[in-house]
Amino acid sequence: MEPREATGGESPNRQQPPAELCRTLSALDLMLLGVGAIVGAGIFVLTGVAAATAAGPGLSLSFVVAGLACLFAALCYAEFASVVPTAGSAYAYASLSMGEFAGWLTGWNLILAYLLTGGVVAIGWSGYFQELLSGFGLSLPALLGKAPHEGGLLNLPAALIALGLSGVLAVGARESARFNHWIVGVKLVVIGLFLLVAVRHINPQNWHPLLPFGWKGVMTGAALIFFAYVGFDAVSTAAEEAKEPQRDLPLGILGSLVVCTLVYILVGVVLTGIVPYRLLNVKDPVAFALVQVGERVAANFVAVGAIAGITSALLVNMYGQSRVFFAMCRDGLLPGSLGKIHPVSRTPARMILLIGALVAGIAGFLPIEAVAELTNMGALAAFIVVALGALVLRKKRPGLPRPFRVPAMPWSALAAIGSCGYLMTNLSRRTLVWFLVWMGLGALVYLVFLWGRPGRPAHAALTRGDTAFEEAVPHPEGIWFATGVSRTQSTVRDGLLGG
Ligand code: ALA
Repeated sequence: MEPREATGGESPNRQQPPAELCRTLSALDLMLLGVGAIVGAGIFVLTGVAAATAAGPGLSLSFVVAGLACLFAALCYAEFASVVPTAGSAYAYASLSMGEFAGWLTGWNLILAYLLTGGVVAIGWSGYFQELLSGFGLSLPALLGKAPHEGGLLNLPAALIALGLSGVLAVGARESARFNHWIVGVKLVVIGLFLLVAVRHINPQNWHPLLPFGWKGVMTGAALIFFAYVGFDAVSTAAEEAKEPQRDLPLGILGSLVVCTLVYILVGVVLTGIVPYRLLNVKDPVAFALVQVGERVAANFVAVGAIAGITSALLVNMYGQSRVFFAMCRDGLLPGSLGKIHPVSRTPARMILLIGALVAGIAGFLPIEAVAELTNMGALAAFIVVALGALVLRKKRPGLPRPFRVPAMPWSALAAIGSCGYLMTNLSRRTLVWFLVWMGLGALVYLVFLWGRPGRPAHAALTRGDTAFEEAVPHPEGIWFATGVSRTQSTVRDGLLGG
């Protein structure tokens, strides 16, 4: 499909009819897209840290707790996605329900959360890659395989994979549903292989004591492995490609989350059943555990599958963040020049390469645990905002048609806010301080550079003659909402997909 304009920031001609949407994704496609984005470094890497340092054999309980918090938040995402099918995800939902400042802060937070997510996934990739190399008797020079805090100079593979994938995206990598099915299939087969092979080696002794660090440990573990669930929101950015978005987006969001929760719980039970939890604080715990029980061949398969799976999670993550940041450029909240679509590759190449460089910097130099905690703080904050936005919109626009309605409102949204807020309190004080510093900086940037500038973000779309919210209507109370999918958005999608 050909993009119809060259930049995200230019005003399109209002007279042009809205583009046909290429609605090719079924509910199953959307669900698999979600699984593709969700299953990555979280399950293949962070489970080990979480079990060894916090949850112990109670790891599965941590997965249940984090999964429940995500489920409540996912219901709110699903309601928004069915009402406002935009690529901007939480940023757009906050803008539309609570105004520009809330939207800006959410977008600013997403910059942190997405970049750090990319960093964590790239570091996880590097861990599996290096372990696989060592299985063949190869290794990188010590200084190039580790971040400075681990005694190295730079985690080179982590930085390179981030840069490499941004290059792939910039030249127009097109995510096809078929490719995604394939890669999701690999991930699930690898996890299935792990479960099948490992289950024979379970020694119930390894489950005692079940909660070596008590319930506090389970909650700390939940706050850490919450990372494994991040990504279901990516489904909402595919709104314009869904055949029946209003029915299928909620199915995709909730379905992928439920599948992943069940898989994670099983992995948690089996992983802590085959080796003592204390041993799991390694870079590649799932493959490592198989080696420990003498299943080296299966371990190598798992390692290769994990690398493929983590690669796709990183690709989808960087793709998703380029979309959200692109939406922010379009609304004038980030420099418009960054959102320019390259005339040849038809991707926002500058934005993607910048993202690649930033993710590479994070992945190359920072420790995975600290980065993961801060990522989680950002993602939890985004989930809280979406739940709050759903409540606000219910109050302000009770009559708005909602093809998918969160059941038991306001309790479900309050449960999302409460559970995500509670998980936040289980992250370290240092993480909270960094998060508050980042958000304070965001507020400052808004006050200095954006405050008082007329007409954004939804307002800007309208005053530019943009059809970003083609059926947007001003509400007396000052909120804007959309009931349609726009030409601009489909153009954005086409551009990002590389035509
Ligand atoms: N949930 C994704 C992962 O675990 C971000 O890699």
